[in-house]
Amino acid sequence: MTKINLGVLVSGSGTNLQSIIDSIEADKLDATIRVVISNVPGVRSLERAKKHNIPAVVINHEKYAAREEFDREVVAVLKTHRVDLVIMAGFMRILTSPLLKAFPLKIMNIHPALLPSFQGLHVQEKALNYGVKFSGCTVHFVDEGVDTGPIIIQAVVPVYDDDTAQMLQQRILKEEHRIYPQAIQLYAEGRLEVTGRKVHIKDTPPMKTSSLHNPPLEKF
Ligand code: GRF
Repeated sequence: MTKINLGVLVSGSGTNLQSIIDSIEADKLDATIRVVISNVPGVRSLERAKKHNIPAVVINHEKYAAREEFDREVVAVLKTHRVDLVIMAGFMRILTSPLLKAFPLKIMNIHPALLPSFQGLHVQEKALNYGVKFSGCTVHFVDEGVDTGPIIIQAVVPVYDDDTAQMLQQRILKEEHRIYPQAIQLYAEGRLEVTGRKVHIKDTPPMKTSSLHNPPLEKF
């Protein structure tokens, strides 16, 4: 199988970047990371890239007067590295049209909630404050909105009574590290068909569960 070329956009610690690197090195993901781009200097993601001999570039957003200018520079670097698919992995920026138009339906993001619930920032606190019994994470294609694009895959985790935001975050992050490589592999295999908001996935295996309950049902 031919491998797809990834460009990974990061702003911080990069545990999702690491899960993608590990999946590639374990031969589970038919992809090559051509470049990692960080908008923040000195972050852990850059060390992770260097450790695995992946080209890493800092494009400091503070040096650009407008979002579009910054995005144009990102596009230039992605094109130089012949990137097919752009992966936002903890990239804390809203994208503008130069980037969206250069990679239509070729940008993925991961969000630590079950979209469309709890968009934006501080989502674990929002989920806990709302009192939901389940939360999770979502991989989606990126469009001009914030956390609004077509959904590719979601994972669900229970929320427990004594959860802190950090505990919930860790539980969700563990699932992020599974569904992001899976979403990229589906793309690499040409199994994602997008029609409007809907992403149809070709040849999916049958679901293992038909429902989940939290707390568990007792008599019913
Ligand atoms: C993840 O929770 C991701 O969903 C969100 O930012 C966090 C980044 O974590 N967008 P990491 O940098 O991949 O460790």
